[in-house]
Amino acid sequence: MLQDAYARRFTYLRLSLTESCNFRCDYCLPDGPDCTSRKEEINLDEIRRVVTAFALLGTRKVRLTGGEPCLRKDLVDVIRTVKAVPGIEEVAMTTNGYRLMKDLDKWVEAGLDAVNVSVDSLDPSTFHLVTGQNKLPEILEGIDRASQSSLKRVKVNTVLLKEHNGKELPEFLEYIRTRPVSLRFIELMQTGDNHAYYRRHHINGESIKETLLEQGWTQRLKSKTAGPAQEFVHPEFAGSMGLIMPYSKDFCADCNRLRVSSRGALFLCLFTENHISLRDLMQSDDPGPLMERIQESVQGKKVSHFLHDKQTGSTKNLSIIGG
Ligand code: GTP
Ligand code: 5AD
Ligand code: SF4
Repeated sequence: MLQDAYARRFTYLRLSLTESCNFRCDYCLPDGPDCTSRKEEINLDEIRRVVTAFALLGTRKVRLTGGEPCLRKDLVDVIRTVKAVPGIEEVAMTTNGYRLMKDLDKWVEAGLDAVNVSVDSLDPSTFHLVTGQNKLPEILEGIDRASQSSLKRVKVNTVLLKEHNGKELPEFLEYIRTRPVSLRFIELMQTGDNHAYYRRHHINGESIKETLLEQGWTQRLKSKTAGPAQEFVHPEFAGSMGLIMPYSKDFCADCNRLRVSSRGALFLCLFTENHISLRDLMQSDDPGPLMERIQESVQGKKVSHFLHDKQTGSTKNLSIIGG
């Protein structure tokens, strides 16, 4: 079992499949991705080996992220391969949703259990402005299909952006009145590339929490294996609301996740200078040395991120590690 110096246990791996993305969200990749990284992406055998090592160390859930994971031509094989690793109980994916309508059935058939889709506005022109893509109707249709499918869970991610969606709470609440999705508002995080944007758009989630409590929402107790969101439910709503507030007190205290980048480096935190390459050890089917390096590295995980001190590590934007 992987455990760090602060007694946190890691049963959840976030595996990035590519740094590339076809959207240009203005808080993440306003100028588009650096396509040179595509040559460096870990292949299917390397993915199988690294996931096997993590599974032998107690990992039970793998989330596939990007950039945009759907840009990988072998995505269906990746899902199937990860799901077949002994010990892996759940394979989830975070996507911008642009292939959801077309590919959902293939992903489900390959073993995908859950999906998180980003929707930063329910207004088509604001959505276009933020993401550079005029695709809101197709993405919403894809989310409806996904929530009617056999997937265990569908979550929707909305990054809070003062001047874009800062006043959209009523529309978002209306959206989940009849839809059984878990909607999460995420506080914008400062990365290496977005300092001015962060100052202009960051909203603290606490004010939304107060509004929800005033409107009859109740906070749900978190299970030990839950993610970073504070969750709220209301008897008149089919969906739930979540708030991800990385600047809140003790946010990192129950961190249960480790990350591997699409170049095969272990990230102990979203925001860190220190990336430990695992790639040389992904060339052999012997999981022993990989397990040893992972276990040793985890002892160096810091107690928290240092975002409050404006230290974003070398994380220029979240497309390089998938959030
Ligand atoms: P599940 O609990 O598996 O559904 O995942 P999730 O909510 O963590 O995943 P998702 O990929 O949808 O991420 C949602 C947002 O939470 C993204 O903006 C992430 O960057 C943020 N997030 C997830 N984990 C962490 C974390 O460990 N630290 C910080 N600072 N942010 C995180
Ligand atoms: N702050 C908060 N969330 C971000 N995401 C990407 N960049 C940031 C940021 N700087 C979100 C995406 C997606 C999730 C994986 O991360 O919108 O929902
Ligand atoms: Fe692409 Fe996600 Fe970054 Fe948007 S947040 S540009 S969808 S990687």
